[in-house]
Amino acid sequence: MIVADDYESMSKRAGEIVIEEMKRKPDIVLGLATGSTPEGLYEELIKAYRQGQIDFSRLKTFNLDEYIGLPPAHSQSYWRFMFEKLFEQVNINYRNIHVPDGMTEDIDGFCKDYEEKIRGAGGIDLQILGIGVNGHIGFNEPGSPSGSRTKKVELTEETIRANSRFFESEDQVPRYAISMGQATIIETKKIILLASGKNKADAIAKAVEGPITEEVPASILQSHPDATVIVDREAGSKLKGRE
Ligand code: GLP
Repeated sequence: MIVADDYESMSKRAGEIVIEEMKRKPDIVLGLATGSTPEGLYEELIKAYRQGQIDFSRLKTFNLDEYIGLPPAHSQSYWRFMFEKLFEQVNINYRNIHVPDGMTEDIDGFCKDYEEKIRGAGGIDLQILGIGVNGHIGFNEPGSPSGSRTKKVELTEETIRANSRFFESEDQVPRYAISMGQATIIETKKIILLASGKNKADAIAKAVEGPITEEVPASILQSHPDATVIVDREAGSKLKGRE
C-alpha cells in the first residue's frame, strides 16, 4: 500500500514500477486499464519511451474491458482511449495489442478465445487496475462471482452514472460490456491498482481493509501474493491504518 501525495506522484510511483518491469522483461505481457486514473501513468511511460528508456516493440498487451456496442473508432470506446493515450505514441506492434471486441457477434466465443490468447502468451505479467466508486475492477460489478473469467457483464446504475461524464447523456452509456473476470485478474503475476480522489476513498477503504467479499470485487486482491495499491491522499483518506 503506497499513499502518494497527489495524482502526479501516484502516477510517477506507478510509472517507476512498470518501467522497471519493462526493462527487466522486454517481452512482458501487460494487462491494461482505461479510465481517467491511469492516464498519468501512461504519460510517464510515453515520457520514458521518448527518452529511450523503454521499448514497446516486443511486449504484448491485453486490456481489461470494452463496452458492448461501441465500434473501436467511437470516441468513448476503450480501444480509442488506449490508441490515443498510449499506443499511437509508442513503438508498439499493433499485432500484439488485444482489446475486447465490443462489436463481436459471438460474445461467448470471443471471451473463450481471449482467455486462450492470454494463456497462449504465458499469462499476464503485470496488470494495471483502476477501481470503480462501487469497488469494481474491470467491469466486475459487486456480486460478480470471484471465479469468473472474461465474460459479458451488465453495468450497474452507479457505474452508468459515473461513466456518463464521458458521454453526452446517461442514456448513451452502453449497458453491457465485455470484461476479464476476477479469476482472470487474480491469476496475473503482479498487480498495481491505482486510485485518486475523494470519491474513491470508500471503495479503497473497503477493498484494502474490509473483508474479502464479492460485494467489493477489488477486495479479492488481498489474496494476491504481489498486489500493490497506490493511491493519492484523498483516495487513501478513509484507511484506518493510516490515521
Ligand atoms: C470504468 C472501468 C474501470 C475503471 C473505472 C474507474 O468503469 N471499467 O476499469 O477502473 O471505471 O474509472 P476512472 O479511473 O475514470 O475513475
